[in-house]
Amino acid sequence: MARTILITGGGTGIGRATARHFAERGDTVFVTGRRPEPLDRLAKEAAEVDGDIRGLVCDHTKPEALTALLARLPERIDVLVNNAGGNTDFDTASQPDLELGEEADLIAYAQAFRANLDANLLSAALTTRALDPRLARGGAVVHIGSIAANRGSGSYGSNGASKAGLSTWNLDLANALGPRDITANVVAPGFIADTEFFRDRLPAERREHLVASTATGRAGAPSDVAETIAFLASPGARHITGQVLHVNGGAHKTR
Ligand SMILES: NC(=O)c1ccc[n+]([C@@H]2O[C@H](COP(=O)([O-])OP(=O)(O)OC[C@H]3O[C@@H](n4cnc5c(N)ncnc54)[C@H](OP(=O)(O)O)[C@@H]3O)[C@@H](O)[C@H]2O)c1
Repeated sequence: MARTILITGGGTGIGRATARHFAERGDTVFVTGRRPEPLDRLAKEAAEVDGDIRGLVCDHTKPEALTALLARLPERIDVLVNNAGGNTDFDTASQPDLELGEEADLIAYAQAFRANLDANLLSAALTTRALDPRLARGGAVVHIGSIAANRGSGSYGSNGASKAGLSTWNLDLANALGPRDITANVVAPGFIADTEFFRDRLPAERREHLVASTATGRAGAPSDVAETIAFLASPGARHITGQVLHVNGGAHKTR
């Protein structure tokens, strides 16, 4: 049976690959983002091969935007993928210099810190809260976390903390949704190429280091993450909830 899927931040990278994965299997997929262009492009590409992907503009950090989104979504959502986010420090022109200790630097630091929390943690919590009454029995919620939750994000910022917070918040969500037969999990990618995550600012040496950190000797692809999300939303994963699944080629190992 065709399902209804909502993928936040679905116009590019991992969200885009996930949208295509579900649409190719006959599901109706809603994708969101702040820019209409990537959403329109994806919807058009899907339509050319009879896929059903519909773009809706929404900033998932804003409660009023979510209220407006609800009015444009169907009453039943089978799978919610909280994928919107990223490291907002890449969008900040200059990092706050704490050594100065000046109030201006602290204000800038607070803004940058909150931006990551908003983009990665609040966005997922707000979206899930808004969609909660529409989540269907037998459905799944999947959040996109990060290897940075375990390893840090290599800066004095809050990206890793925001992704770690997402996993912790998901523990309570899994308990809340379990009695309704809805699972809630986190997929935590390592370095995934072919996304807009690094804003074309990934130095070659850093890229080489990230690839060398894997056991598989390659960068991840958006499809690696999409396949894992699809598994968590499949009938075979009904007893998996409250978990973090790592997709990083062994760059971060667990036991
Ligand atoms: N690529 C990696 O190496 C990597 C590693 C670990 C975790 N991740 C996580 O994977 C997820 C997907 O990122 P990606 O790698 O595919 O990068 P991406 O290509 O930059 O995708 C992120 C998408 O989210 C959207 N977005 C961002 N903030 C939003 C907001 N407030 N409201 C609505 N949409 C928003 C962006 O579109 P607009 O700008 O148009 O809104 C964009 O389409 C993110 O949560 C990221 O943190 C990625």
